Amino acid sequence: MGEECILVNLEMVKANLIVQEYMSIGNDYIGNIGAIEHNIHHAELVSSLCYDILKTLGYPEREAELGAIAGYLHDVGNLINRYGHGMSGAMIAFNLLLDMGMAPEEIAIIMGAIGNHEEQAQGHSVNNVAAALILADKSDVHRSRVRKREISSFTQRDRVNYAVTESNLAVDVEHKTISLEMTIDTTVCSVMEYFEIFLTKMLMCRRAAEYLGCQFELVINDNKLL
Ligand SMILES: [Fe+2]
Ligand SMILES: [Fe+2]
Repeated sequence: MGEECILVNLEMVKANLIVQEYMSIGNDYIGNIGAIEHNIHHAELVSSLCYDILKTLGYPEREAELGAIAGYLHDVGNLINRYGHGMSGAMIAFNLLLDMGMAPEEIAIIMGAIGNHEEQAQGHSVNNVAAALILADKSDVHRSRVRKREISSFTQRDRVNYAVTESNLAVDVEHKTISLEMTIDTTVCSVMEYFEIFLTKMLMCRRAAEYLGCQFELVINDNKLL
């Protein structure tokens, strides 16, 4: 890392006014098309989960911090378009972090992670931060993220989220497992139906856990499905 570079941390990213503004406008824009919430709460949760996954598994502090930054910024691309928001978000993050003085090799890790967090865009765990980001992002499924009020207007994505009343990601470093435990309301969909809708995301999580040397487990209403 060159001497002119700055060790940008999560607090500095959060304090950046352009970051604050773009994330909030992006969430408003996708709200106008009825997409689920991608607010600051989602950004903060994904950020801290991403940090915890890497930290718990013994990765260096700085790598975990890059995970926290990637987690915070990962959905900033919603500002441009919901479609491809991973790739547009990676480019926005590139500009923001370069302006803040972050080292290019650190920005590269974050860009690779943000650009690979979407299953629709064939996201893959291209580095440790990318793997942690996939696990952190996919585990934030919850009823409170659905903005629509009419169940009849729900998309599959709305149902997947609306069904969940509790979710928790547990990292067991001793047994090398990463478990996503969820409680779902079976009046919204059955456990098997839920599993079917959620399958692509879960396969992505399994590959991400394997990238980090762990087994992925999925537990829904106390049934171990993966
Ligand atoms: Fe996203
Ligand atoms: Fe997200």
